[in-house]
Amino acid sequence: MKKIKRIGILTAGGDCPGLNAVVRAVSKNALRNDIEVLGFKNGFDGLVRNEYMNIDAAAVTGILTRGGTILGTSNIANPFKYTLPPFGSPEEPKDLSKVAMHNFQINNLDALVTVGGDGTLSMSKQFVDLGVPIVGVPKTIDNDLSATDQTFGFDSALSICTEAIDRLHTTAQSHHRVMIVETMGRYAGWLALRSGIAGGGDIILIPEIPYNEDVICEAIENRKRRGKTFSIIVCSEGARNEKGEMVIAKKVAESTDAVRLGGVSNYIGSVVEEKCHTEARVCILGHVQRGGTPTAYDRLLSTRYGAKALDLILEGKHKHMVSLQGPQIKEVLIEDAVSKLKLVDPHGEEVQTALRVGTSFGSTEIK
Ligand code: F6P
Repeated sequence: MKKIKRIGILTAGGDCPGLNAVVRAVSKNALRNDIEVLGFKNGFDGLVRNEYMNIDAAAVTGILTRGGTILGTSNIANPFKYTLPPFGSPEEPKDLSKVAMHNFQINNLDALVTVGGDGTLSMSKQFVDLGVPIVGVPKTIDNDLSATDQTFGFDSALSICTEAIDRLHTTAQSHHRVMIVETMGRYAGWLALRSGIAGGGDIILIPEIPYNEDVICEAIENRKRRGKTFSIIVCSEGARNEKGEMVIAKKVAESTDAVRLGGVSNYIGSVVEEKCHTEARVCILGHVQRGGTPTAYDRLLSTRYGAKALDLILEGKHKHMVSLQGPQIKEVLIEDAVSKLKLVDPHGEEVQTALRVGTSFGSTEIK
């Protein structure tokens, strides 16, 4: 097998806690194997522009606990549909994948580690198909990748959402209001579901279980009849009604995500005030969920993922993504990792648990 002397690493897509912990683990494991590491800046953009930093021991000292990414990131820079000036534009996207591959070669790289979510791993698969040796690391607060039990970043976001729900209880109880907290998660309801259960939310709205406005109001009225003068609704940004309608904040053609979600809780708030005649307030958590230091769980998972990613490179497994499977870190083919999203099972154990403790999903279909 070819001796590995030099690798590249990039972090792409939305930032989240744990990215630096992965960069640190990959680099530390590489340096102890006498492998040089180039850190490409701002995701795949750095590979297109050939902008990188040399990662030595000093560069990764003290970054385990830091949020964000020392390399920078981008969820716009797609080498296959490049829209950033001066090389491309949103009106005229260019295929600059050959430029990225050229830069991979002139830097004498033996492999590339790509750290990202669905969009990043899909681009990684395209490069793998063109013969670039890549090991992927699954990141996203959405936890929506099917080929791993959990993505890093999710646990940190979950704890922030749960703490927010705890804090919102205070105002809800004191003012006898309905408080609606909106989590991120795109088309997957994991963040809302798990923080809703952990925070004791009364109503949880997720994309996988379409809501009915009357059922939401009925749940609030039921609580009132039992003497509960407040309610907490935990609402995923991707929550949709029975017609499948979602609230779209913006269409973003140039991003790896075609639409920007956010704001459905404002709509739910207006429904609660009009139909249930109850005062409502809305709290959209937004990027607070992605900020700050990783939890201990995410530091550990990121470190395990990063160390394993380098092991896979040494083993010549260059089309793979590291994956948590039960207690172990294993590997899966990148092509299998991007084939489908992992969504909440409306009939699964977690939804059933929430139902058993009296939580409503704003639907009569789920019992
Ligand atoms: O995929 C992670 C995520 O935080 C989603 O939950 C959210 O919809 C999206 O990214 C927000 O992206 P941006 O940072 O571009 O607004």
